[in-house]
Amino acid sequence: MDELGALCWLVDAGADEAAQVAPVNRFQAKMAAPLAQMNDPPSASQISPFAHGAGLRQAPRGIVRPTAVLNPHAHDNDYIGHALEIANACNTLAELKAAVEAFEGCALKQFAHTTVFADGNPAGRIMFIGEAPGFEEDKTGLPFVGRAGKMLDKMLMAIGLDRTTTYIINVLPWRPPDNRNPDPAEVAKCLPFLRRHIELQSPRMIVLLGGSPLRHVLGNAEGILHSRGKWLHYHAAGRMVPVMPTLHPAYLLRQPTHKKLAWRDLLAINHKLQQNHELA
Ligand code: URA
Repeated sequence: MDELGALCWLVDAGADEAAQVAPVNRFQAKMAAPLAQMNDPPSASQISPFAHGAGLRQAPRGIVRPTAVLNPHAHDNDYIGHALEIANACNTLAELKAAVEAFEGCALKQFAHTTVFADGNPAGRIMFIGEAPGFEEDKTGLPFVGRAGKMLDKMLMAIGLDRTTTYIINVLPWRPPDNRNPDPAEVAKCLPFLRRHIELQSPRMIVLLGGSPLRHVLGNAEGILHSRGKWLHYHAAGRMVPVMPTLHPAYLLRQPTHKKLAWRDLLAINHKLQQNHELA
């Protein structure tokens, strides 16, 4: 049965809507074959998974591409290695932005409408790191512009900061479909870009918003409620950067009684800013 035949069969059977965000690709073998031929690999180990046409293409709005466009010979480690190579070759934030936008090795990108790189002041000395873009961020291409973003703006304002004095990024530049948790391989392919982002932006202080950046930036799995409010450190380009983990603004929307904990963390951040005038 060809694709059209299969579709007609589903329609005849009464199917009138997609049940999942990600389509089940029933033609994987069929679609992978021409791709493998396009790369014309002498052997699986010799081909680059990043050859033209081998990776993922960002889907136009409303179109979800099947996962078969990933090179069937590529392994997660190949993509992680490639991400590392191209991230480290970037010497400016603009180069890094272009590299992330061009990267085709992370499956999350196929579901996202935009690459969400950063917002705020690239010269700002305080970097806020969230988890991943949500619906609004995926629409606009900017981090923290939805409800959680409004809450973040209030948190910044409470200690005299705003987006002109801070720099805001996420661990992941692409929204996971349905805001699901990204799988470890998806995160691993984004981490080289995140680490280079921190090196190039060179913040004097980092604020981690929630457990996900705590885990992925510092490798700390103790949980945000345990680690928040305590100064930690991140090593970037030979410098020790003070890091304050605090509660994610979306969590505060769900647990408003915990705003008092976030307020304590903000006061600690403010205190350090006052002590180190060059930060402000
Ligand atoms: N939550 C995040 O962690 N980041 C965003 O950009 C928006 C919501």
